[in-house]
Amino acid sequence: MLPKIDFTKTSAYQYLVDHYIDINKYTLKDLFTSDKDRFDKFSLYLGDILLDYSKNRINDETKALLVQLARECKLDEAIKSMFAGDAINETEGRPVLHTALRNRSNKPVLVNGADVMPDVNQVLAQMKNFCEEIHSGNWKGFTGKAITDVVNIGIGGSDLGPVMVTEALKSYKTHINAHFVSNVDGTHIAETLKKVDPETTLFLIASKTFTTQETMANANSAKDWFLAAGASQEDVAKHFAALSTNAEAVAAFGIDTDNMFEFWDWVGGRYSLWSAIGLSIALSIGYDNFEELLAGAHEVDQHFKGADFEENIPVILGLLGVWYNNFFQSESHAILPYDQYLHRFAAYFQQGDMESNGKYVDRNGNRVEYETGPIIWGEPGTNGQHAFYQLIHQGTKLIPCDFIAPAISHNPIGNHHTLLLSNFFAQTEALMNGKEEDVVVAELQKAGKSAEEIEKLKAFKIFEGNRPSNSFLVKKITPHTLGSLIALYEHKIFVQGVIWNIFSFDQWGVELGKQLANQILPELEGNEAVTSHDSSTNGLINQYKSWR
Ligand code: F6P
Repeated sequence: MLPKIDFTKTSAYQYLVDHYIDINKYTLKDLFTSDKDRFDKFSLYLGDILLDYSKNRINDETKALLVQLARECKLDEAIKSMFAGDAINETEGRPVLHTALRNRSNKPVLVNGADVMPDVNQVLAQMKNFCEEIHSGNWKGFTGKAITDVVNIGIGGSDLGPVMVTEALKSYKTHINAHFVSNVDGTHIAETLKKVDPETTLFLIASKTFTTQETMANANSAKDWFLAAGASQEDVAKHFAALSTNAEAVAAFGIDTDNMFEFWDWVGGRYSLWSAIGLSIALSIGYDNFEELLAGAHEVDQHFKGADFEENIPVILGLLGVWYNNFFQSESHAILPYDQYLHRFAAYFQQGDMESNGKYVDRNGNRVEYETGPIIWGEPGTNGQHAFYQLIHQGTKLIPCDFIAPAISHNPIGNHHTLLLSNFFAQTEALMNGKEEDVVVAELQKAGKSAEEIEKLKAFKIFEGNRPSNSFLVKKITPHTLGSLIALYEHKIFVQGVIWNIFSFDQWGVELGKQLANQILPELEGNEAVTSHDSSTNGLINQYKSWR
């Protein structure tokens, strides 16, 4: 079980309160001037990934105190507990074992005394075999043609991971085209179905529970479309497969349970891309590449379990996040990949982080008196630079940023990658150093401005700097390095949940929305006026009914 410690009551926290006042006397620039070894001291390598965290508002003492905080919060016990399969998702009474899905060592992982690895391996073998059938063209559709397109129908964790990974690894794409339908808005399925042919399309119904309203609505519409194209009920078996924990509901939907790829309740939805939910990934990039993704994540799992906290990347990332969130009162955290293929990376971790750590009740059941999970957001560079970076540079909020870039591009066209990387390096440097008054004045003088004009303009052109960032420089975005990057962020989220003393693996807040929508649904049926809600909700519903 996870420890239940209020981190604000630890002695490390009290020291950090005082230390925060001290560190605030220095800018990042000062910290670099006074310590020539900063980069060596505050950077870490893991395989082909370099994390430079030296551009953070920390010194040796900060790091030591943050590590002490992790120790006092018994992070080591928490990590052991998760990997050991303890039911650390206490409010749902389940273990949290996405790490078992990528346990390439194959060492036993016990849940209630039984090793889960044989089941994990059996589903992986089933996925491998299925990929071979589809890729070779052996698997035929109802008119005898091979499959060319796969449509994954799922939402949240049953969608975002596969979408993000297939986009990130597009340069590894097989001849199979992957499409994703998540939104219950009919536009999503309608526009997707325009692009595919019922004779050559395979639908993967991806839902842990197999009861999610959006997914079931989209799955039924896909089935209707398929049957309307002249296929019979028996043909459904050739064109529909299920990725789920719920065999009964899969059978009730009409999918042959031979075409069901199972996973288990110890896999959280937002941690499920490593499970059967990853079938669209394996079909899209090839099964061997899917295994490489698992291997990259497994490497990080070993690092997270074994490395000292001082050299443990997820621990360091998590603690830095706590430092900004709870001492600098930062409200958000930006993830800024300088790689177009990673354009859904921030969106993926919006769910990963915010659904995990967006909680105000602590593990003792009390309302917390401190801030928990930050708002996660971001877009790829350099697009973001021409959109929202203004606020990061000169706004009133402190926004810690993660910059991520590959050293080697999959598309080495002309000098594009050098241009991209020059922006990556320039941004972190500019955020740190800012632009001082004398530089601004010299520039304006050079541009021929009068003393009066310079006086008027200079305040707007000065950048305070002192804005922190982490930089991930990755040799190349491969299935392996991507698997590692994802796992690093997953474990960072875990670290923060442990420190904040919250349960990171449930999502009761999302359940409320589901329940309320189901209550309103029957009220939208008839034409009679609705009066059961507040005047705003009644007004909106009744206007909708009169306009539809
Ligand atoms: O959004 C809530 C949630 O429960 C997510 O955690 C999950 O990933 C998503 O719904 C989809 O659930 P399911 O896979 O059961 O359809």
